[in-house]
Amino acid sequence: MASTDGAEVLVASNRGPVSYQVREDGSLTARRGGGGLVSGLSAIGPETGALWVCSALSDGDREAVRRGVGEPGVRMLDIPADVHADAYNGVANSVLWFVHHLLYQTPLEPVFDAEFRRQWASYEAYNRAFAEALAEEAAEGAAVVVQDYHLTLVPGMLRALRPDLRIGHFSHTPWAPPEYFRILPDDIARQLLAGMLGADRLGFLTQRWARAFRACCEEFAGGLGTTRVGVHGLGADADFLRRRAHEDDVADRMASLREEIGAGRRTVVRVDRTELSKNIVRGLLAYGRLLDDHPEWRERVVHVAFAYPSRQDLAVYRDYTAEVQRVAAEINERYGTPGWTPVVLHVKDDFARSLAAYRLADVALVNPIRDGMNLVAKEVPVVSDEGCALVLSREAGAYEELGEDAIGVNPYDVVDTARALHEALTMPAGERSERAKRLAAAATALPPAQWFLEQLQALRAEPS
Ligand code: G6P
Repeated sequence: MASTDGAEVLVASNRGPVSYQVREDGSLTARRGGGGLVSGLSAIGPETGALWVCSALSDGDREAVRRGVGEPGVRMLDIPADVHADAYNGVANSVLWFVHHLLYQTPLEPVFDAEFRRQWASYEAYNRAFAEALAEEAAEGAAVVVQDYHLTLVPGMLRALRPDLRIGHFSHTPWAPPEYFRILPDDIARQLLAGMLGADRLGFLTQRWARAFRACCEEFAGGLGTTRVGVHGLGADADFLRRRAHEDDVADRMASLREEIGAGRRTVVRVDRTELSKNIVRGLLAYGRLLDDHPEWRERVVHVAFAYPSRQDLAVYRDYTAEVQRVAAEINERYGTPGWTPVVLHVKDDFARSLAAYRLADVALVNPIRDGMNLVAKEVPVVSDEGCALVLSREAGAYEELGEDAIGVNPYDVVDTARALHEALTMPAGERSERAKRLAAAATALPPAQWFLEQLQALRAEPS
């Protein structure tokens, strides 16, 4: 089945490097995809000869596939929209994402009913479509690196179709501990692990997630078998970020942000997808608490919070977005004065403006309940002009690498987060810039291109 001129290196992920939109005049415009996975993999350009297999996610993407429009080195799969919606919204984002991020809580608990079984069949079909496309595109003995929880079954399916391939899988999320993983129906828990264990090698972002995966295998699959496990802590792309952050559009955004902030004020910055695991509401509450506990900060600090739309097909994400907006408005109403808006909230995705905020940041607030890595925590210290202080959740994967120079917080503890914000705001300038230098060094230790290469070498080196 291998095509003789097939690709030697293949990457598979749900979201690809670009997405398309149909303009009113019928033409297509391309935009960069978002999220940690795409930021990491975008460094692997077409010049590496790798083929990136991804899903068509929007009507524009489907139209691009139909018209044969595309980027070199990218193959978009036009999986039927209803199958994709079941797999992506129903299984991947409502169940697997929640399990790995420990997000279930009353009344938001899973019900594994007939509807879920139908969605699960779509998840299998969607994974099969990827496995078949990869089997078709891969050269004899090629290396395939499958990405993330959307495609957990692909390694096993691909192994059955193409035993000659070197198959890797990389998780950009945490992995659930066994006590939580067992929320899943038995047969599905086993199928997920069997799918993963079809790979020669599995990659995780931290030791902690790798340990949890091993523990799940011990408990539900009789161990790892011959599959190897490695840890590759994806770092920030310093060269790209520093160059991009000094382009003109970023300078324009800095000027307008400065106006919104007001002269002489300190800036606490956060940039996230509006994602439950990012814990934006508790972050806002902590900022409100700071203004209560330390009224001396009133008029002297502004919280610049960017909460970009994510997974809006899911009601729980739409509700969360509304909650973020409500809490930000409440803080502004309660503490604001004619010349001072305590929270500047922006919800429209704008990468140049994110970089502008990074450059202006005195303090970065990154407080997820649980996060595979969190690249924002790694990007801000690299880009900030004056060297920012970092308030960082101990539950973010990035904490394993940045914990020494960040101010660690328990993300559930609003009072302690307020205390950490005060500590960050009052950190002496010299200490702050020394710490920021060390943070930036740790954050860029494994830049994306190297991160990918490291996995590829390990995958090729080991016996299959
Ligand atoms: C996380 C996941 C990625 C995902 C990203 C954005 O980083 O690990 O796989 O692409 O979130 O989420 P989305 O659902 O918009 O692709």
